[in-house]
Amino acid sequence: MTGTDKKADFYIGDIPIHGRLILAPMDGLSDMVFRRITRQLGSAYSVSEFINTLDFMYSKVYQRKRLFFHEDERPFVAQILDNDPVRMAENAAYIQERFKPDMIDVNLGCPARTVSGRGAGCALMKSPELVKQIFEQVCKVVTIPVTAKIRLGWDDNSMNYMEIASIAVERGAKAVAMHARTKKMAFGKTVRWEHIATLKKAMPVPVIGNGEVRSVADAKRMFEETGCDAVMIGRAAKANPWIFSWRDREQVAVEEVFYLARYQLRQMLEVNPENAIMPFRKYLKAYLEPYNLPRDEMKTLLTAREPERLFALIDAVHERLIAEEN
Ligand SMILES: Cc1cc2nc3c(=O)[nH]c(=O)nc-3n(C[C@H](O)[C@H](O)[C@H](O)COP(=O)(O)O)c2cc1C
Repeated sequence: MTGTDKKADFYIGDIPIHGRLILAPMDGLSDMVFRRITRQLGSAYSVSEFINTLDFMYSKVYQRKRLFFHEDERPFVAQILDNDPVRMAENAAYIQERFKPDMIDVNLGCPARTVSGRGAGCALMKSPELVKQIFEQVCKVVTIPVTAKIRLGWDDNSMNYMEIASIAVERGAKAVAMHARTKKMAFGKTVRWEHIATLKKAMPVPVIGNGEVRSVADAKRMFEETGCDAVMIGRAAKANPWIFSWRDREQVAVEEVFYLARYQLRQMLEVNPENAIMPFRKYLKAYLEPYNLPRDEMKTLLTAREPERLFALIDAVHERLIAEEN
């Protein structure tokens, strides 16, 4: 469905978007299984973990795996990260042709030193001319919408999000997601949503607000305070993917949490039988944290290596918590 779909909440280019909460791309967390879970719970579309296009075309399998997605995740967005306009365009064209995502997102927000140190991620915000070339080149070679994910700027003295977003949009970007912190603010406590409101007022394309949305009330407040078209949620989703159904963790029954944990583990084992347990632990820890399990019990769960044993341990904790509830 394109163009005339009446039920869409908004459009990115000609792509109808259903829903206004979106799982943020998270390296090491937003894998296909977790993205599908959040999509089923209501996240409006899926964004890949960043694809470093420095050596993507010739790269190791793990980079390519980041572009595997399920049809039911569509719209699916492939996020690219680099600082070379020609290479980014070549890779964007290749990714569109080979993997058929619905959109390409350009990462201008990553604060990691290994990334910004080589001029990519948030460091791009210090080079408006380069941003111009990147969007010009990438938008020229792909036929799907291109979007930008930015921060406020590099630091308090260079909050140039308006300039960067305008450059991206003038060169063809169809939406801008903004994490309301500077690079220097990293993931600190301060978050400046008022700038999302400023950007929204000025942009002719959808603006997606991001940063420190931890609860349903936070999401509602971000909509109210900024007028943004959608809210992107990252870290809070790890312990509460139900947030995409507008539910806080306190509203989610023990039964549902354990059902989801088992389902996720089964899916992860199916996708990657050799290496599912380790990455699953991050979610399991987050799912179980609210129950304040005894430290030894948590440790046993988080060090189990065999799937059968882990399932059995999960069942045992589940049964105990249910018994305690009754
Ligand atoms: C572990 C982790 C990995 C991340 N990886 C990416 C990434 O690959 N691409 C990206 O654009 N942002 C990435 N981010 C940033 C998030 O998308 C988001 O902008 C940030 O976490 C702020 O949102 P939150 O406060 O809801 O977590 C990552 C964040 C975290 C915590």
